[in-house]
Amino acid sequence: MTPYDLSTLLSSTDTQSGDQRGFSRLAQSMIPSEILTIAYDVRDRIAAGADILNLTVGDFSPQEFPLLPELQDAVKKALDDGQSNYPPAPGVLELRTAVCELYSQRLALRYPVDSVLIAGGARPIIAGTYLCLINPGDQVVYGIPSWNNDHYCRMTQATPVEIPTTETTNFFIFRENIRPHLQTARLIALNTPQNPTGTVLHPKDLQEIAEMVVEENLRRATCGQRTLYILFDHIYWLLTFDGVEHASPVQLVPECAPYVIHVDGLSKAFAATGLRVGWGVGPPDLMKRMTSVLTHMGAWAPRPEQIATASILQKSAVVDRHIQHICNETGVRLRALSASIDNVRETTGQNITAIAPEGAIYLSIHLDLLGKVRPDGKTITNDEDTLAFLLDEAGVALVPFRGFGAPNAQGWFRASVGTVSRAQCEEVRDRLNRAFSRLT
Ligand SMILES: Cc1ncc(COP(=O)(O)O)c(C=O)c1O
Repeated sequence: MTPYDLSTLLSSTDTQSGDQRGFSRLAQSMIPSEILTIAYDVRDRIAAGADILNLTVGDFSPQEFPLLPELQDAVKKALDDGQSNYPPAPGVLELRTAVCELYSQRLALRYPVDSVLIAGGARPIIAGTYLCLINPGDQVVYGIPSWNNDHYCRMTQATPVEIPTTETTNFFIFRENIRPHLQTARLIALNTPQNPTGTVLHPKDLQEIAEMVVEENLRRATCGQRTLYILFDHIYWLLTFDGVEHASPVQLVPECAPYVIHVDGLSKAFAATGLRVGWGVGPPDLMKRMTSVLTHMGAWAPRPEQIATASILQKSAVVDRHIQHICNETGVRLRALSASIDNVRETTGQNITAIAPEGAIYLSIHLDLLGKVRPDGKTITNDEDTLAFLLDEAGVALVPFRGFGAPNAQGWFRASVGTVSRAQCEEVRDRLNRAFSRLT
């Protein structure tokens, strides 16, 4: 049978507006991730033969960061054992129990198993939190730059309360920034170690926020106002460097446990982004409702991978060794990249600096090239021009903080080291030195 070619018929829809096509307001309001748009553009250039060091994607390349062999074997074994049917909606019990153990051993927090919801990566837990807590118009408070909170606000018609941050606070918000919005906010979204900045929120500052939330909820309880929550995205919590300390608000102020949703998973600390195993840890009543929401989306992690993850998390020594390995490898790259930036500043006298890496897989780089003239006579007037100059003249691809909803953070860029080698981080030095020497 000759298949009916539908391409022409369907291409006519391209010329019609979303309204004409009857798309929902939600569908029309969503915009693609700016980070991915830049990353795909770089990928296309590389595919077309450009020599580019790609520091854009927050992913790990399997060549640089191969999957833990024990995890790979465990996934294969689960498949061989016939584990190919639906997982239970909240996740397989072995994995939920293993996550409880992980939090007990490494965070000294003993959660009941009903606090743990397994999902297809960390994203569904973030989306699920928004969907379970936000009514249209509810306020969500977060600092910018921020990883995707603007998109989740759009998705749920939340009113974003965006607080611009600067390098002087390592791009974090504090208790005093939140206080003016305390009585009207529904959700405070925090992420540490932070994407895109690679910085870690100091436990003392986190404790102040947690105490304030507990106090505010006591006040709300007396007047029947809806609860205030903290979405605590600590997907990178096992990746910190040079003695930098990470803490959960619940460790610091246990009384805030009923109001905190931890966002977590395998993706980053285990360099296993494609396996799609994440989890949320929070108050059981909320996690139960989130289970229903995610069930209707089928946002589960695949069953064989859940079983495999459980078997790995149960082996404390294997987890220790692997996390140490990922920390060493990411730390070495970030330090090499940071040293490259220092060298470029010293060699060329250009205004380029980096914030010392503290956690995650990112380096914040500040580049002030405004007013400089490229070899082709074009003057650099904004971040787009800087980005284009780096791509054209140095073959180095970064993401501007604008991609993280922070147009105020002019001159700041994120470099991600998960897909490059240490040698490539060192090579950035030579590439930038060469390119910068051609600026006038
Ligand atoms: C801060 C942060 N939270 C959540 C995620 C999503 O993780 P996952 O790939 O497990 O959905 C990412 C991914 O880049 C991230 O950077």
